[in-house]
Amino acid sequence: MTKFSATTPIYYVNAKPHLGHAYTTIVADAVSRWHRLLGDDVHLLTGTDEHGLKIQQAADAQGVSPQAFADSIAPLFQQAWQRLNITHDDFIRTTEKRHAVGVQKLLQACYDAGDIESDVYKGQYCVACEAYFTDDELVEGKCPIHRTPTTFVEEENYFFRLSRFEDRLLQWYADHPQAITPGFRMNEVIGFIKTGLHDFSISRKTLTWGIPLPWDSSHVAYVWFDALANYITALGYGTDDAAFAKRWPVDYHFIGKDIIRFHCVYWPAMLMSAGIEPPKGWAVGGWLLTDGEKMSKTAGNVVDPLDLIDVFGVDGFRYYVLADTTYGNDGDFTLEGITKRFNSDLANNLGNLAARIATVVEKKCGGLGPKPSANSPLAEIAATAVRETSAAWMAVQPSKALEATWQLIGATNSHLENHEPWKMEPGEAVETVMGDALEALRIVTILANPALPTTTQEIWKRIGLAGDISDLRIDSDTTWGQYPGGCAVVKGEPLFPRKTL
Ligand code: ME8
Ligand code: MG
Repeated sequence: MTKFSATTPIYYVNAKPHLGHAYTTIVADAVSRWHRLLGDDVHLLTGTDEHGLKIQQAADAQGVSPQAFADSIAPLFQQAWQRLNITHDDFIRTTEKRHAVGVQKLLQACYDAGDIESDVYKGQYCVACEAYFTDDELVEGKCPIHRTPTTFVEEENYFFRLSRFEDRLLQWYADHPQAITPGFRMNEVIGFIKTGLHDFSISRKTLTWGIPLPWDSSHVAYVWFDALANYITALGYGTDDAAFAKRWPVDYHFIGKDIIRFHCVYWPAMLMSAGIEPPKGWAVGGWLLTDGEKMSKTAGNVVDPLDLIDVFGVDGFRYYVLADTTYGNDGDFTLEGITKRFNSDLANNLGNLAARIATVVEKKCGGLGPKPSANSPLAEIAATAVRETSAAWMAVQPSKALEATWQLIGATNSHLENHEPWKMEPGEAVETVMGDALEALRIVTILANPALPTTTQEIWKRIGLAGDISDLRIDSDTTWGQYPGGCAVVKGEPLFPRKTL
């Protein structure tokens, strides 16, 4: 059985989840759902990043311990993912024991390899990024990501000798030219490695909120060393070797472009040092912007995904983030944009197709959905949609995948408009048109299921089919002609009632 393993970033618990977190998590979920429909043995991992100065400061501001603070925020992520229908197989919190055990094992392995040494660090630090910057990386003296002032720190720390890994990393990427999606991000990473890599501090002595170094407990691990390790500790590194061997290396780390250096440079070097294979791939998303700026807690311009669910429904929201932005590029979030998408693609296209089919079947076919014909012109269009939708999901291009699926919806709506079955007398001709439309809709519900898990299941039921779409298989269940006919079709309430701004 083919395995497919994927991860999302583990999100900082300094504040509740926002649209940007939901975006990456939904993409990872939808791609994972597609792989389940292929019959793959899927594992999707998400979680929360709970150590470090940023969380310590957020807890201090509330006058509570960092553990109590993390305990109050982590459930908000768990609840949000539940509401958004995220099908993760594991949720790791970096304050869990299994994580600490694995982090210490990884630290010790790098230390034993001679890649961790003590040194003095002097430089600029951005707490929001939990990252060090050189002076020339700053923009007008400020953090290039958050545009907030950095602080000067000078500390005796342990350093990871990243500079030793330039050649090994370049060689690895040369051997794995497809590892980073989209491809232009690969060039960015290689360019960065070629400018020369600096050793980075992997411990803090002035902070206690973290995992102690196994050989020097007066230091705690730098939060990024700790955080990146979640990808292996959750799979059993340090606690369950067999489980780890089964799942690692993962197929994709889904991340945003803000954390590409940590993931595509630091992380593979850390793994190489410890004698562990790098991941097979990274799928790097762009940013969702509001008014041209990255939506972030630090900028204070965040949108709560749960507010959008209240208006557009879970599937309406999922569809918007998957369809509206080309994964890899930045996207603009606007209320106008989500409303337009919802009305055009969901209300007018998919919703309308399901509703008009049910109406005509009720009026002209006695409420029983007829069988499709073998030689329908829609059969070929459906086969193309299946092929293109699949290729796009495999390439982590959700917007392209949905476009390919929506081609079939559009063609089916046109087919109905051309034949006007609502004007026909009951009989064979109307049965043929409606059977073909039902079969196209059946295939659409399978193809769109990873994006719209709830509403596609509802359509499935309304066209008289039993069972869960998630138990079906793309290979065998999307070929033309399988709608059995004679099924009771019901109209039901509108699935996507039109919205006004
Ligand atoms: O960086 N648009 O956590 P974080 C799109 N804990 N995606 C966005 C986004 C936006 N405006 N804002 C955030 C951390 N994201 C670390 C990660 S992983 C070992 C440790 C998404 O809470 C995007 O995926 O700041 C980004 O990479 C991630 O949230 C950062 O979340
Ligand atoms: Mg961030």
